[in-house]
Amino acid sequence: MPYAAFRSIGAYVPSGVLTNHDLEKMVDTSDEWITKRTGIKTRRIAAKDEKTSDMGTKAAEVALKRAGLKADDIDLLVCATISPDYFCMPSTASVIASNLGIKGAMAFDISAACTGFIYVLSIAKAFIESGMKKNALIIGAEKLSAITDYTDRGTCILFGDGAGAAVITSTENKDEAIIDVHTASDGDYADLLMTPNGGSGSVHDDLDKEKAGCYMKMKGNETFKIAVKTLTQDVRDILEANNIHSDEIDHFVPHQANYRIIKAVGDALKLKDEQVVLTVSKYGNTSGASIPMAINEIYEEGKLKKGELMLLDAFGGGLTWGSALVPFAPFS
Ligand code: UT7
Repeated sequence: MPYAAFRSIGAYVPSGVLTNHDLEKMVDTSDEWITKRTGIKTRRIAAKDEKTSDMGTKAAEVALKRAGLKADDIDLLVCATISPDYFCMPSTASVIASNLGIKGAMAFDISAACTGFIYVLSIAKAFIESGMKKNALIIGAEKLSAITDYTDRGTCILFGDGAGAAVITSTENKDEAIIDVHTASDGDYADLLMTPNGGSGSVHDDLDKEKAGCYMKMKGNETFKIAVKTLTQDVRDILEANNIHSDEIDHFVPHQANYRIIKAVGDALKLKDEQVVLTVSKYGNTSGASIPMAINEIYEEGKLKKGELMLLDAFGGGLTWGSALVPFAPFS
């Protein structure tokens, strides 16, 4: 039976920086409040003409190069995004495939908000283990600044832009295989975090973003409480199901939504600070891009070594959530 191995990581971080002090001039907030309640200090913002696909392409180029694979080798490309280049089509994945010169591969987007990267990881694993595909390029890319209402202090302090990508390939070696991926959802809570209109459910005739409500709306505190409870349980479940103790985890790489959520889950699992990967202060919440951007961070700092075990977890709009146990398995 073929297994799926996590071979490489790449990321792209746009150059624009939005600080808490910048936000103080835009909405009724303060650096102190944002820092205390979220842990965020800065977020990166893409240029006006920089699309989600541009960022995804750059992250993917790095991941492909580090894996030593060429465009021709890729037979599956999946992009997790809630801020696609185009409202309906083409998919951001198709645009990225074209940018990279990938011809003929299956390419599509998925919409699972902040859990997007866990979802695309599970898709790559399933296609590879079934034998249908051999080399997958998975991407989380977001230009959340395009769907953020910068007059709403409940959301605009949280979100940023960026992209991350990983190459997952088929292997016969079980030791390097992705151990498990959990994915789940509960649409009963859809209204907690949503872009209420602008789609086929919209009651508006025009697509003026403000009127059509294409911006994100969030019931932050309710989402926060469900996130902590659900993630703590989900992470306990995946560890228990695979008979792995939390001290065997080399890197806990959570979705970077809020430092307090990460801390609560980390404490519940008795994880040590050095096991927990944190990028939230620098990049804020980049939804589907946040986990691969965080993995890339430890890779570039030289902290992620071959054979080390990562525990990933994420929670987001849908509601969706998931977790994964992933050994880092570069070719060399
Ligand atoms: O990534 C996908 C999933 N998303 C999440 O998991 C995010 C979950 N939510 C959160 O991270 C937090 O709920 C927030 C950071 C959004 C808000 O933090 P909170 O501790 O839950 O605050 P709150 O919404 O309960 O608001 C507390 C107070 C309120 O004032 P009153 O009613 O106590 O007078 C808010 O109006 O803080 C006020 N407030 C602010 N004050 C200054 C809300 N936003 C701000 C702000 N600056 N930006």
